[in-house]
Amino acid sequence: MVTLSQYNAERLLTDDAFFREMYHLVSLTRQRKVDKIKVPEVRAVSLAAGILIKNMCDAWHIDSKRIITNEHGKPMIPGGKPPYFSISHKHKIAVLAVSKDNQVGVDIEFIGMYREAMVKRFYTKAEIAFLDGIQDERKKREEFYRMWTMKEAYGKLVGDGLSTGLVFDTTMQYTSLKFTHQFVEKDYIVTICEKF
Ligand SMILES: CC(C)(COP(=O)(O)OP(=O)(O)OC[C@H]1O[C@@H](n2cnc3c(N)ncnc32)[C@H](O)[C@@H]1OP(=O)(O)O)[C@@H](O)C(=O)NCCC(=O)NCCS
Repeated sequence: MVTLSQYNAERLLTDDAFFREMYHLVSLTRQRKVDKIKVPEVRAVSLAAGILIKNMCDAWHIDSKRIITNEHGKPMIPGGKPPYFSISHKHKIAVLAVSKDNQVGVDIEFIGMYREAMVKRFYTKAEIAFLDGIQDERKKREEFYRMWTMKEAYGKLVGDGLSTGLVFDTTMQYTSLKFTHQFVEKDYIVTICEKF
């Protein structure tokens, strides 16, 4: 089973004292990451991701110093040990998917414009045919972002990010993968990919 936690960084963005209080609770690695970010919203959501990881570490009685990243940036517990987890953020929302049993990848996207150029460049023939068959404008945008989050979530599960994700065909059936989708804060879609 995968649990999804989310954190809206609005208060971190607007309340300096609260930001400082939370900053001191997260790992030094996260503090260094936050320190390097100049854009306030991106800083706040990076801290939000750090808070979600801290909460996970507390729940699992893990020292956050144990978390490492692979050569592509995937955060994990060394030795392929649980908890398996994945992080994503968009605008002010950070999400964390955690599983005790299976590798996971998560991605969140804002359901914005339909991106024809990205479809042409990165989507498979089967995906393009599927999208071309949708008449309803909102449904088409939702499906575009649902597929995109599937590609990213899979790439994050594998651990090399978009290089694997972009060639992943979301219209195929994969017996060892399970995808779940949910809408958060109205116009954001979150996809979790779990490998059995
Ligand atoms: C992983 C990737 C798809 C993230 O895309 P994004 O949409 O910009 O960002 P998201 O908000 O969805 O995800 C960011 C989180 O993904 C995680 N992440 C980063 N690289 C990852 C990877 N290779 N696999 C799994 N998760 C990864 C991090 O936890 C990051 O959050 P944090 O920086 O706050 O800790 C993209 O950065 C990528 O393809 N990275 C690999 C590129 C690479 O090989 N780089 C090598 C040099 S480090």
